Amino acid sequence: MKKFDNISEMQQFAEYSRKNGLKIGLVPTMGYLHEGHLSLIRSLRKKCDILVVSIFINPTQFDAGEDLDKYPRDFERDENLCRQEEVDVIFYPTADQMYPAPYFTYITVEKLSKMMCGISRPTHFRGVTTIVAKLFNIVKPHVAIFGEKDYQQAIIIKQMVIDLNFDIGIVTAPIVREADGLALSSRNKYLNSANRKNAVVLYQSLEYAQKLLHDRKIKAAVLKGKMEDMILTKPHTKIDYIEIIDPDTLEPLEEINNKAIVALAVFLGGTRLIDNLLIHT
Ligand code: PAJ
Repeated sequence: MKKFDNISEMQQFAEYSRKNGLKIGLVPTMGYLHEGHLSLIRSLRKKCDILVVSIFINPTQFDAGEDLDKYPRDFERDENLCRQEEVDVIFYPTADQMYPAPYFTYITVEKLSKMMCGISRPTHFRGVTTIVAKLFNIVKPHVAIFGEKDYQQAIIIKQMVIDLNFDIGIVTAPIVREADGLALSSRNKYLNSANRKNAVVLYQSLEYAQKLLHDRKIKAAVLKGKMEDMILTKPHTKIDYIEIIDPDTLEPLEEINNKAIVALAVFLGGTRLIDNLLIHT
């Protein structure tokens, strides 16, 4: 397994691989890898010759007052996991290299970045699309993979790829969950044991939404209200948003006719968790 912490070395290796007809796959991550990340790695391993995992805690996607400094890191463990998964390259640049001073250029996917998570995290998606575009220019992948756990992020990246004509295939992979249903996330580590137990209510409320919709036709606003009531029975919960949206456009739906994504962000204590589920009528 190769390790590059240098942008031009990574670019040269990517160029060399392309010249040799090899297909490059990229799994962008912020490290502290868990089974969710590993599922992306395993899925892309089958679809490419050179599998690159990038590990970079991207400062521009943390809004003011967010957890950049305390974001968990364990490079050695990540490295071992990547080796076990037969990753070919870890790319782990420094922030100084990725954002040398002065730095002025950002990418914003309008509209889609301003809804849902974009309301409470106004600069977050600008940071995500900027770093992902930079990674695309450095790693030069033919294909890149993103988790459906961050549903809005995946849709925004797909839109950026279309709008900016990146010649890169974007694939997504399903959410990996704990046994009780909680979606795996690096941020779960911040939960104390009571909040960890109660965090299962996010997934329970999504399943409840699916059940209600299965039983009878129900308006989105009513569904949201019932989910809210369920979540707020647990102590230390605060709802950031619950949205029932079109799976392709993220447009909020009033009526649910065929299928919809139910997406939510909920604070447990100080920790903000997100989750979503594709529901069918
Ligand atoms: P990070 O939170 O490290 O996640 C990296 C990738 O793993 C993302 O595509 C995310 O959707 C996926 N992922 C996380 N938890 C998952 C789970 N439980 N099941 C399936 N996939 C999961 O997302 C980011 O980093 C950053 O925003 C990044 C795209 C790397 C840009 O900095």
